[in-house]
Amino acid sequence: MVSVMYRNRRGRITGLGSAVPEHIMTNHDLEKMVDTTDEWIQSRTGIKERRICEKYESMSDLAVAAGRRALEMAGLGPKDVDLLLLGTVTPDHRLPSTACIVQKKLGLVNAAALDIVAACAGFLHGLSIANSFIRIGQYKRVMVIGAEKLSSCTDFTDRNTCVLFGDGAGAAVVEASEGDRGILSTFLKSDGRLSELLWIPHGGSIAPPQSFHNGDGDFFITMSGSEVFRHAVRQMSDASLKALDMAGLKSEDVTVMVPHQANIRIMESAARRIGIPIERVFMNIDKYGNTSAASVPIALDEVVRSGRIKEGDILLMAAFGGGLTWASATVKW
Ligand SMILES: CC(C)(COP(=O)(O)OP(=O)(O)OC[C@H]1O[C@@H](n2cnc3c(N)ncnc32)[C@H](O)[C@@H]1OP(=O)(O)O)[C@@H](O)C(=O)NCCC(=O)NCCS
Repeated sequence: MVSVMYRNRRGRITGLGSAVPEHIMTNHDLEKMVDTTDEWIQSRTGIKERRICEKYESMSDLAVAAGRRALEMAGLGPKDVDLLLLGTVTPDHRLPSTACIVQKKLGLVNAAALDIVAACAGFLHGLSIANSFIRIGQYKRVMVIGAEKLSSCTDFTDRNTCVLFGDGAGAAVVEASEGDRGILSTFLKSDGRLSELLWIPHGGSIAPPQSFHNGDGDFFITMSGSEVFRHAVRQMSDASLKALDMAGLKSEDVTVMVPHQANIRIMESAARRIGIPIERVFMNIDKYGNTSAASVPIALDEVVRSGRIKEGDILLMAAFGGGLTWASATVKW
């Protein structure tokens, strides 16, 4: 329940930043690793290349670089942040949370810090939680990061998955704001009954790495591609319509949609179901592939820095991923 005192308070994104590894892995590189072709990958997914961390690069390094850029854009210093939320499924360690590592590296000494495990929908879960904390008056300046090193759990001998994923990070600074600009609505949903459509079977406490001796554990992302595809289209479009409805908006009000970059055909089909022309859908999947929790904030950072978004424009974001989890949000810029 929002108190009367804070009825007009909402979270507003005042800073954005992103970071990707320098190393580019092209479809032609993958042709040398598995039985695939550039033509197949481009026509089925829209991906041309993806960024892959070197061994010495960590997910937290990317998150820190993105977070620093977001702070710069917001004109804030590290001590101003009072909460850090980090969406990821590829933490640096099982303990501590990578949010605590990023907090240390960025010097966010006044912040609480925690990881959010909601796969590709992790950033939008963070944005929704940030907005809720801001609306109840508990925090004023929240950093939300989505960051992944998916190459650490990608099987580069499995053509069904290895062509899809990439590494990267995106960050947003969300500040308390009075007035009508900012986050208008958010929607979150999960369906744990479908968790085995997209998961990493081993490596958690139920089957820890030390319980395997002959390299027989399955520590890689395993996915039922076509089923995930079907759910992604339906849930991303339904969630988008819900977020629009909650904000009292229609699809024609949307200036730009920033969807999770999983597959160009998923984005096209979802946009068609929502009623948004494809020219209004931002896509950068060709450059980065699917970077899971990082994909929405990287895309958001790019679209805002490109100058395409003006004050008062309406943004729609939607994401879908393992869990299964999905989420959406509308923002008045
Ligand atoms: C994975 C995905 C690209 C596959 O595309 P698709 O059109 O559904 O293709 P299918 O799964 O029907 O497979 C078609 C054929 O291509 C083959 N294939 C799969 N990957 C291939 C590759 N990289 N190169 C060449 N052929 C490939 C399959 O083995 C299959 O061959 P078969 O018919 O002989 O068995 C698509 O299902 C997808 O994007 N799913 C969602 C993935 C995703 O976004 N996951 C993260 C959730 S956020």
